[in-house]
Amino acid sequence: MLPSSSLAVFLGALATALACDIPGDTPSNTIVEGFAIQVQNASYPIIHNRMMNLWPAGGGDNHLYLSPAGDAASNLTLADGVINRGIIHAVINGEPQYTADDNTTKIFMTQRGDPKALFDVAYGCNPDTDALQKELVLRARGTNPPTLGGHICVRLASGNRHEFRYSPPGNTGEQTL
Ligand SMILES: *[C@@H]1O[C@H](CO)[C@@H](O)[C@H](O)[C@H]1NC(C)=O
Ligand SMILES: *[C@@H]1O[C@H](CO)[C@@H](O)[C@H](O)[C@H]1NC(C)=O
Ligand SMILES: *[C@@H]1O[C@H](CO)[C@@H](O)[C@H](O)[C@H]1NC(C)=O
Repeated sequence: MLPSSSLAVFLGALATALACDIPGDTPSNTIVEGFAIQVQNASYPIIHNRMMNLWPAGGGDNHLYLSPAGDAASNLTLADGVINRGIIHAVINGEPQYTADDNTTKIFMTQRGDPKALFDVAYGCNPDTDALQKELVLRARGTNPPTLGGHICVRLASGNRHEFRYSPPGNTGEQTL
């Protein structure tokens, strides 16, 4: 159950555009102004337009779930393609966050030095409102050397929560709803 999704960086200032003209420049992959992440995949109404929330876990880590699970997070920043909030940042860990049945790995936020989730920023048009928006596009898992490609998806987890996962390039274990 892994509908893919582009992660739209929801910036209110940009959402006021009346029609979507994509600027000619390449957006920076550093964003210092706080933002929230909205999941968009109109083919999957159950996830479409839900926000990415943070769920406090042990040791200062936060796990990522679709709203309404967890706490709203509108003060995320992006530093060289890495999602940060304060002292924690988004990583894609190996064992034990890997599950063999779908070959995906949890993405979550921690202070520790696990392989980072590295994103590029692209302009896009909101599928519903046609407003200009910034979108996070997964560039790589920051292993050494980096694993290029792959994408972020969500799946149903315990407690009727949708958790965020990393699906590697060419993954044939992934299932769609
Ligand atoms: C929506 O999810 C499907 C299934 O995973 C995927 O093929 C498609 O690319 C996704 N659409 C967007 C806009 O991400
Ligand atoms: C982000 O916002 C949350 C919720 O308002 C707050 O608890 C947290 O301290 C903030 N963190 C940073 C680094 O701004
Ligand atoms: C599972 O993911 C790994 C990379 O993490 C990839 O090399 C392998 O081909 C994938 N397996 C399947 C069955 O897709």
